Amino acid sequence: MEQSDRPVIVKLSPNVTDIRVMARAVEKAGADGISLINTLTGMAIDIEIRLPRLGNISGGLSGPAIRPVALHMVYQVVKTVNIPVIGIGGIMDYQDALEFLIAGAKAVQVGTANFVNPRANLDIIEGLRTFCQEQGMSGIDEIIGTVRSR
Ligand SMILES: Cc1cc2nc3c(=O)[nH]c(=O)nc-3n(C[C@H](O)[C@H](O)[C@H](O)COP(=O)(O)O)c2cc1C
Repeated sequence: MEQSDRPVIVKLSPNVTDIRVMARAVEKAGADGISLINTLTGMAIDIEIRLPRLGNISGGLSGPAIRPVALHMVYQVVKTVNIPVIGIGGIMDYQDALEFLIAGAKAVQVGTANFVNPRANLDIIEGLRTFCQEQGMSGIDEIIGTVRSR
């Protein structure tokens, strides 16, 4: 990307009708990579006082609840663009990380899991290493984008 001498990774919001349109636009604009997804807009109401629980009324939903949405969007974007994709959204353990990698993400980001387990990233790395060994793989590259078609 000419505006920067460093790699530019653009993060996508899931709060759109068709994530592929956004992915195509940032690739065309020169992004070096795409990361997704950011949080989904959500809301909660305290039923006793009938007030939105969040000061801003709505807020960003993260964690396991968003994982299927995130995985599907990552899967769609991987098939749409030629730049690397980083998978994000509700990854709590190495099995979750594997889903994103198998869907075609070249890497993953772990957010909310760190609030539950400060060792989450270390556990995920260890889990991936053990999985690769047990599967007789030399590295995680062997599993990236290997999702089969039905
Ligand atoms: C407390 C918190 C703060 C966040 N701050 C940012 C931020 O500053 N910029 C950003 O792009 N995403 C931010 N996010 C979104 C995360 O990077 C991530 O896209 C999202 O939470 C989904 O991943 P997760 O389920 O692993 O948390 C934040 C998420 C949380 C929970």
